[in-house]
Amino acid sequence: MSGIQLLPERASEFAQRVDVLFLFLATVTVFFTLLIAVLVIFFALRYRKGSNASRAGAKDTDLRLEIGWSLIPLSLGLFTFVWASRLYGEVYGPAPENALEIFVIGKQWMWHIQHPSGIRENNQLHIPAGRPVKLTMISQDVIHSFYIPAFRIKRDVLPGKYSTVWFTPTKPGKYHLFCAEYCGTQHSRMVGTVYVLEPAEYERWLASGGEMRVGETASGTGTVAGVATASLVQAGEKLYNQLRCNACHGLKDDQRGPTHYGLFGKKVKLRDGTTVVADEAYIRESILRPTAKVVDGYEPIMPSYEGLLSEERLLQLVAYIKSLQKTEKQVAEVKP
Ligand code: CUA
Repeated sequence: MSGIQLLPERASEFAQRVDVLFLFLATVTVFFTLLIAVLVIFFALRYRKGSNASRAGAKDTDLRLEIGWSLIPLSLGLFTFVWASRLYGEVYGPAPENALEIFVIGKQWMWHIQHPSGIRENNQLHIPAGRPVKLTMISQDVIHSFYIPAFRIKRDVLPGKYSTVWFTPTKPGKYHLFCAEYCGTQHSRMVGTVYVLEPAEYERWLASGGEMRVGETASGTGTVAGVATASLVQAGEKLYNQLRCNACHGLKDDQRGPTHYGLFGKKVKLRDGTTVVADEAYIRESILRPTAKVVDGYEPIMPSYEGLLSEERLLQLVAYIKSLQKTEKQVAEVKP
């Protein structure tokens, strides 16, 4: 590419709209900056001490002028506010139902990606074009920030708390992935590549278990996509059984702990009378700090798993518990 590129490539559905807003803001800013600067210089020169420009008819106030310079910037400001906050709400709001869900763990100094199929990648992210992608992200140490300029998305990745972001890539290709939060000595090297593939090529990539090389990745930076041995849910189930979660959490609410079947997304009533929605963050917290939110009707007897599980394993457990979508009744029908 020749010349100076003012804006990064546009490769997501948000990109165009973010750019229009940005260009509008830039235009308004440049226009008023120039207007004020030119007037300041003009008046300073014309009415400088000793100049013989006529001062006749000078007024102390002019109501029309004052209303004008109050109302015009006010309406411009409010217009921009409404426009920008609506776009922001969409970019950072909930992802569409059909979004492909991928998990991201940030750590000093790399991006670790987990696909639902079990494929793992380091500093690489393979996604299909034309389908919404939702990322659920967490940090294993300090604050990082997940930034894909071509998609116009940037989201802080925090320790101890899931953050999410979504986008729909539109154009197959290779894009930069950056960490946009200073996170230590090698922050500037916490970079990666996003590969947006044609849906058919993506299917082939999935089928190869993440081993297929895309385009020029064969001579890449040495970051190798991991082979899928088990899906995220399968890995979670194995861990669930290893940790003996099922000793206290049964198919129904008749054990020492509440059942995990049909839990995800449900409203849960707590001992203190409040209600929470069982989302990823709630499940993660209940594994690490079980006494923080005790379900109504149960004793705070569950041991804490704080420090015993990596973020990766926590994601597996969360994915498995999420997958237990059957209700108590459906389970009862299957069981003898
Ligand atoms: Cu991670 Cu900067």
